[in-house]
Amino acid sequence: MIIFKKIVEFKNYLRKLKNKKKKIGFIPTMGALHDGHFSLISRSISENDLSIISIFINPTQFNNQNDLFSYPSDLKKDINSLKIISENLILFNPSSEEIYSGNIVSNVFSFGGLDKYMEGKFRKNHFQGVATILQKLFDLVKPDNVYFGEKDFQQLRIVEYFVSNLGFNLNIIRCKTIRTDDGLALSSRNKKLDISSQKIATNLFKALNFVKENFDTLNFEKIYNKVRHFLSEFSEIKIEYFIIADEKDLKPIKTKDKNKKYRAFIAADVSGVRLIDNIKLY
Ligand code: PAF
Repeated sequence: MIIFKKIVEFKNYLRKLKNKKKKIGFIPTMGALHDGHFSLISRSISENDLSIISIFINPTQFNNQNDLFSYPSDLKKDINSLKIISENLILFNPSSEEIYSGNIVSNVFSFGGLDKYMEGKFRKNHFQGVATILQKLFDLVKPDNVYFGEKDFQQLRIVEYFVSNLGFNLNIIRCKTIRTDDGLALSSRNKKLDISSQKIATNLFKALNFVKENFDTLNFEKIYNKVRHFLSEFSEIKIEYFIIADEKDLKPIKTKDKNKKYRAFIAADVSGVRLIDNIKLY
């Protein structure tokens, strides 16, 4: 596996690849890799000539310095896991200085209102930071296909929007959320939960499943009340938001239109760790 830390060297390598007309799959990550990432990588391997992974904990997308400094990281382990998947992977693992040259600020993007809700509301400027790093990475890697998990569904929709808005010539590939056998959506942040908190966190998925099972028969108020009541039984869980929204424009809804597709979204603090999850309701 080749590992690049410097943009100049990575650029030279990419230029040669592009001359050879190789189809490039790209998986941007912040490391602390898990089976969710590995499933994106496997899909990329099967759909491209070459797969590039980036590991970079992007400071501009954190609105809270404690969250940034405590974000899980284990580069050695990540590299070993990647080598087991394939020796042909390319890893880009730059420093913050390499990416931001000492000027750690976001660019300003418009997301057509998709950032007004949920993560956009509760994590100020989060998506400006995500778009800032992705713009830099897409400009550098010039991938054909980029792989994102549906667990961060709002991020996925915002990336789809900004890629089309800025005219990037690449495909965003939606990939299903990978879960533990008992339903916990895989996330790097799960590494901060002990075993018992991981068990408790599976109740978020139970709540989302309840919504899916009852979406056609119960009215919204009943669904919201039941979810809140169910989760309030766990003192370790504090809901930040729970909403049902149109999956295209992400607007929270109160009445159903049978021609539209909806998802239920949740963010909660579980034993001090902020988790998000969502489920499609169709
Ligand atoms: O989803 C993530 O891990 C990050 O938001 C991303 C897309 C790698 C940008 O830093």
